[in-house]
Amino acid sequence: MTRIGFLGVGHLAAEIITGLLRSGLPAAELILSSRGYGPKLAARHGIELAADNLQLVAAADIVLLATRPHDAVAAVAGLGWRPGQILISACAGVKLAELRAAAAPAEVVRIMPLTASSLGASPTTVYPDLPAVRPLLERLGSVIPLSHEAEFETATVSAAIYGWAQMLIGLGSDWSVAHGMKPEAARRLAAETFVAAGRMVAERPEPSEALLQSLVTPGGITECGLKVLAAQGVDASWSSACDAVLAKLTDGAPAARSA
Ligand SMILES: NC(=O)c1ccc[n+]([C@@H]2O[C@H](COP(=O)([O-])OP(=O)(O)OC[C@H]3O[C@@H](n4cnc5c(N)ncnc54)[C@H](OP(=O)(O)O)[C@@H]3O)[C@@H](O)[C@H]2O)c1
Repeated sequence: MTRIGFLGVGHLAAEIITGLLRSGLPAAELILSSRGYGPKLAARHGIELAADNLQLVAAADIVLLATRPHDAVAAVAGLGWRPGQILISACAGVKLAELRAAAAPAEVVRIMPLTASSLGASPTTVYPDLPAVRPLLERLGSVIPLSHEAEFETATVSAAIYGWAQMLIGLGSDWSVAHGMKPEAARRLAAETFVAAGRMVAERPEPSEALLQSLVTPGGITECGLKVLAAQGVDASWSSACDAVLAKLTDGAPAARSA
């Protein structure tokens, strides 16, 4: 049995734990650190609670780190890591080199899951793509392996876009309610429209530009709205927001291309 320890059981970890249990992983394969939601989830699902982080690392083969980024390196240092152990970090912006130095001789992998892990619907990025980690991530949704750490950092901007997409769904829903739709129908329609758009791009082979072009009938409603969005500078605003997130993730410096 491979035991998976959770070091840092906050909002993200709670969603991942829900997703793992939902996928059929036995609770006996998990062990949780004792802060945050650890005690509550341990009691609810019959998961073992570690007395401290030393015991957690002693008991686990794989440790999933989900503290806030600024706590990450200190949280893993000095915990008696063994050869063959794997530390999986979900902490945005925390570099492999820092984690490797703090958790040697454990192998270190970075992932960026979404809270949709609890639904088995997270597109989870991973670098490096260690075969032993794959089966775990596949329980949370699809896995998107990346080829170097700078690419992983760029991909991490998507974790922020996930929130912006929810904001756009809210704006669409609120607008529809203000114009006469019932709230429940408006929310469902706004959310499922985004799901439908995402699925078409993810599942159809055509280039995404061709898919969009097929929706833009000259003189039609899609074209009408796109013209307004372009005139308001939406493309530039979107790029600026992505640039700001990437700069925050990399402290303004380009991320290293190598491992
Ligand atoms: N939230 C998301 O949707 C999301 C998505 C992708 C990635 N992430 C990444 O996931 C990480 C966690 O985010 P979050 O939103 O889940 O944060 P959070 O809710 O604040 O959870 C962090 C948890 O870590 C615990 N912690 C801190 N130091 C610890 C230590 N030394 N030992 C044991 N537990 C410790 C905290 O305990 P206390 O409460 O006792 O301080 C808290 O329960 C972040 O690095 C973030 O970049 C988050």
